Amino acid sequence: MIDHARDLIEAADRGPTDVAAVVRHVGLRATAATLIDEILFRAHLGDLVSESDASVVITLTDGSRETSVLVSVGPKGVLIGRSADVTDLPPVRIVQDVCDTALALYGPRERVSSASREVRWPSPRVMVPRLASNLAVPRIFHAVVQRVLQVLDREEPVRLADLAVRHGTDKWSFLHQYTPHYQRHLGHLRDHPVTVLEIGVGGYDDGEAGGGSLYMWKEFFPRGLIYGLDIADKRALDRPRVTTITADQSDPDALRATAERFGPFDMVIDDGSHMSPHVITSFRTLFPYLKEHGVYAVEDLHGSYWPQLFGGSENDLNDPEYTVGFLKQMVDGLNHEEFLKDDTRAARPTDRTVKSVHFYHNLALVEKGRNEEGSPIANVLRQAPELLGIDRLQ
Ligand SMILES: C[S@@+](CC[C@H](N)C(=O)[O-])C[C@H]1O[C@@H](n2cnc3c(N)ncnc32)[C@H](O)[C@@H]1O
Repeated sequence: MIDHARDLIEAADRGPTDVAAVVRHVGLRATAATLIDEILFRAHLGDLVSESDASVVITLTDGSRETSVLVSVGPKGVLIGRSADVTDLPPVRIVQDVCDTALALYGPRERVSSASREVRWPSPRVMVPRLASNLAVPRIFHAVVQRVLQVLDREEPVRLADLAVRHGTDKWSFLHQYTPHYQRHLGHLRDHPVTVLEIGVGGYDDGEAGGGSLYMWKEFFPRGLIYGLDIADKRALDRPRVTTITADQSDPDALRATAERFGPFDMVIDDGSHMSPHVITSFRTLFPYLKEHGVYAVEDLHGSYWPQLFGGSENDLNDPEYTVGFLKQMVDGLNHEEFLKDDTRAARPTDRTVKSVHFYHNLALVEKGRNEEGSPIANVLRQAPELLGIDRLQ
């Protein structure tokens, strides 16, 4: 399946006319394939599997033509294109305009509309006799429809911690509890068409293992494009809106090529080797490709201290050759306009481009932004301190 999500996200940002143009260009069937894949990714119908079964037909139409997919959820899991045939209830049909669906899934939240939607329940001739004969309608019959409608109405779950557990990343686990911090700093971007790059896909040498955090970001940012860079080939994990790149994070040329192709980024997360020289090279190379107000996250800061596994050191906690020392100097960089003596500290490239630095247990978040507010009093103190006429400030 060709992934048309990127075109649809960009068009949905501009409005219905542009979405209609993409649908015309790509075709109804290919557009519907991308949209239905997205609906099923977000609906998590596999959670509903029970002894009973239920089917739903999702039909997308452009007014003159339509394309449909039958989805069944039953004891054998989620079946696409065929019925589980366990119970005798016919499928519920959800019909919606294809452009409205693209806008609902990929547009700004205010474009979500159910105006063109029709939910066709099985006919009363099927349903009413069941009531009369006391035949229960299985819970799953309604639950499947409800989940699909929740997706079309953009009522996604919002706790990143839930998504971390669901998709199997250790960003919330017995090892780390990073997700509340990410949610706090990035929650306002949920509804934006963000571009995210994560270094470290997971699963190490096994090309088919890992990807949990990429899928977590995909679900957290319903309009986001997610890129995962790993030293191992992870292309088997590529999905719509999720693309992997095979590269070594200590290779600046490879990082630059990646950023030129897929950047600039709203967020970069370094969850790769956790070796200080790699982390520092990645930061220096990729920070210029972060958008204004973007966030650069460095995870697993323990690598900065542990000689075992990560080549870290506790000898000099301010040593800028190690990750935490390198990040700490940005705190002084925030105040670069306040130093009175020329030789206190050498100017650094990030002094004027880092707006805030947040440290949590094992996690640092660096926010990009202009840091040039000026310091009128420091200017006077540097040039002619006696002009102030006082020798002590509050
Ligand atoms: C801790 S896992 C990433 C977990 C994933 N981000 C998650 O939250 O589910 C670390 C990954 O970094 C990759 N890695 C190790 N050294 C690397 C390097 N030099 N460049 C790029 N990736 C590297 C490993 O192959 C491994 O898959």
